[in-house]
Amino acid sequence: MRVIVESTPNEVARHAARIVADLVRRKPKCVLGLATGSTPLGMYAELIRMHREEGLDFSKVVTFNLDEYVGLEPAHPQSYRYFMDEHFFRHINIDPRHTHVPDGRALDFDAHCQQYEKLIRDCGGIDLQVLGIGRDGHIAFNEPGSSLGSRTRLKTLTAETVRDNARFFGSEEAVPRLAITMGVGTILESRQCLLLACGSSKARAVRDTVEGPITAQVTASALQLHRDVICILDEQAAAMLARRDYYREVEALQSRLEAARRARAEG
Ligand code: PGA
Repeated sequence: MRVIVESTPNEVARHAARIVADLVRRKPKCVLGLATGSTPLGMYAELIRMHREEGLDFSKVVTFNLDEYVGLEPAHPQSYRYFMDEHFFRHINIDPRHTHVPDGRALDFDAHCQQYEKLIRDCGGIDLQVLGIGRDGHIAFNEPGSSLGSRTRLKTLTAETVRDNARFFGSEEAVPRLAITMGVGTILESRQCLLLACGSSKARAVRDTVEGPITAQVTASALQLHRDVICILDEQAAAMLARRDYYREVEALQSRLEAARRARAEG
């Protein structure tokens, strides 16, 4: 796992956007896995700026979102479809038909979840999966105890997640108890994962994910099994990592290697 510590959430957003933009330029038909929540908002804002000011072209990009609440209409202001449209899709030149979010109103959830997995496969698999992390270490809505081999399915939200998300709904009672979520196994099949975390409330989950044992009690820890994960953290989210100095040293050496490679390529 590559661990990058930036000084502020703004720097985290810019670094993450650079990684996504590099992929979109390198592979215009790439498949992005996207996340909702407060954490990736800055990254979306920066990608929108790059689209407007630098002509970053999303016309061929395909996206799959991680999850959706059960029971919410796409037009519901708290639905993840609405979130993505409002904060990202309607500001860039992506083809709306290329954007996929699980349907929280599906009648046959099993069939819908299997179809979602099939669609991901038919599109060639996810090139880069963006992830936030819950305070309990969940990725997508894979709550503690989720199978590390799980696929897209219905999941019951924990009381902690319902409490955390009540801020968007006005009250805990209004938060749906069920969601459709990609499974941990689905996420692990992405070619690359980009885990973002900011703020001290995430410090324990980040420590458990990066330096703890692999356990279904912290589903993000399954990312230790993936061969290409980049974790971008702000100082507060990184505060409990025991090996912070080592990660910094690795990144400093990595930058020197990349600079040398660039200089050689430029002759
Ligand atoms: P947040 O949510 O980005 O709003 O903190 C992350 C998550 O619960 O996965």
